[in-house]
Order: sequence, then C-alpha cells, then structure tokens
Amino acid sequence: MPRASLPQGAEKTQRVRAMFDAIAPRYEFVNHLMTFGLDRRWRRRAVADLRLPVGSHVLDIAAGTGDFCREAERQGLVPIGTDLSFGMLHAGGAFAPRFQADASALPVATGSLDGVTCGYALRNFTDLQGTLNEMARVLRPGGRLSVLEVAEPTNALWRAGFTIWFRGIVPIIGSIFSDRAAYKYLPKSTAYLPPTEELRAMFVTAGFSGVNHRTVAGGLSQQFVATRAS
Ligand SMILES: C[S@@+](CC[C@H](N)C(=O)[O-])C[C@H]1O[C@@H](n2cnc3c(N)ncnc32)[C@H](O)[C@@H]1O
Repeated sequence: MPRASLPQGAEKTQRVRAMFDAIAPRYEFVNHLMTFGLDRRWRRRAVADLRLPVGSHVLDIAAGTGDFCREAERQGLVPIGTDLSFGMLHAGGAFAPRFQADASALPVATGSLDGVTCGYALRNFTDLQGTLNEMARVLRPGGRLSVLEVAEPTNALWRAGFTIWFRGIVPIIGSIFSDRAAYKYLPKSTAYLPPTEELRAMFVTAGFSGVNHRTVAGGLSQQFVATRAS
C-alpha cells in the first residue's frame, strides 16, 4: 500500500493510539504467536547490544506492554518505560516505572540517560525525525541506543514466505485472537518505514554516531545500534 493512502499527521497519532489501546489486552500473546516466540531472543540481543554496565539507566520508548523493560531488568539495567497508549502500559501488568507521552516530546531532562531502547515502533511514529531527535536529546554524550523494527527480507523465496505470513496469515490470527482491522493495518504500516540508508542518515541528523545496522533472522527484523555523539 502506498504511504500516501495511510493516515498522516494528527489523524495517524489518534488512530495508532486507539488501535494499540484496542489490541493491548492480547498484544503479547499475539506477538509471541506471530514470531513463534523468536521476538524474545531478538529483544535479548538488542538490550545486550547497548553494552552498558549493570545499574545503567535506560528509557524504553514506545514500551508497550513492557517486554523490553523486563529484558533490561533481567540484564541488570534500570529501565523506565514510556508509551503513547495507556492501554498498552496498563496491559503489561507489573513492570518498570512508566509514563504516558508522545515520543516526539518527552518530558525527560536533556542528557539524563545512559541508554535508550525502542522496539517495533518507528513506523508508528507520526514525526519520525522529531522522535529520533528526542532519543538523542535525552541521552548523555556517549549514551547508547538500540532499536528493533520489522523489515522485509531481500531473498526472493524468504520474502514470498514472509508476505504470505505477514499479510495473509497474521490478519487471520489477529481476527481470531484480537482485532482484525488492527492486524490488517500493521503489515501495511511498513510502508511508513524509510529505506535503511535514509534511516541511518536520520539517526546521524539526530545526533548519533557509529550508526550500525544489521538484519535479524534473515531480514524479518532489523536493528540499529548507535552512540550519542559528544
Ligand atoms: C508494535 S508496538 C511495540 C511495543 C513494544 N516496544 C514491543 O516491542 O513489544 C508499538 C508501540 O508504539 C507505541 N507508539 C506509537 N506511536 C507512539 C508515539 N508517538 N509515542 C510513543 N509511543 C508510540 C504504541 O502505543 C505501541 O505500544
């Protein structure tokens, strides 16, 4: 679906928030089902790639139901979560301290954090560059960033399988266990994602250096790791 036919601006923010509020109660269950539980492994690696010492303070942006915060705690970090959707923050049950905010305007002091994580949310942000700027702003110089996002495999066979799964089967799983409209929208929302090199340039513009990109699981996911430039 072309990006222009998806909601933009304030309408996108409103629809994304309402959609995540609606799917929040079954979000984790459907997520683990959709990825055969592999997302847990991807998150573990993403947090480890921060390469921060135990006790470091980390903000998980678009924390959803808290999977990244829980993983950060397991690795000895001190996480705080933030998300646009009260429903997602509530559905996660007990996890780290958290607050509701739009990631493009974080009520967080400049340079106050050692690390930032963000999982599967870039395509949901209305103001992507503004949000990357905020990720950089809240980090101290030398602070670390690790971001996971969906991707589309480049290998033709793998890509065909992915298309059938993500665009065909996932909406069916979503309609059985959660909300069909939301799980039809989620695969389409990949159209919001800029290509890798454009995204890398956006991280640099925001104030990151050493921006590393890698594909995960044959290109089913992708990860950016970067350091806040001094
Ligand atoms: C696919 S979920 C990912 C949740 C979690 N990070 C994970 O890995 O499971 C995307 C999340 O981004 C949040 N989100 C979307 N737009 C946002 C914004 N502008 N500011 C903060 N969070 C936002 C949604 O509410 C939702 O919880």
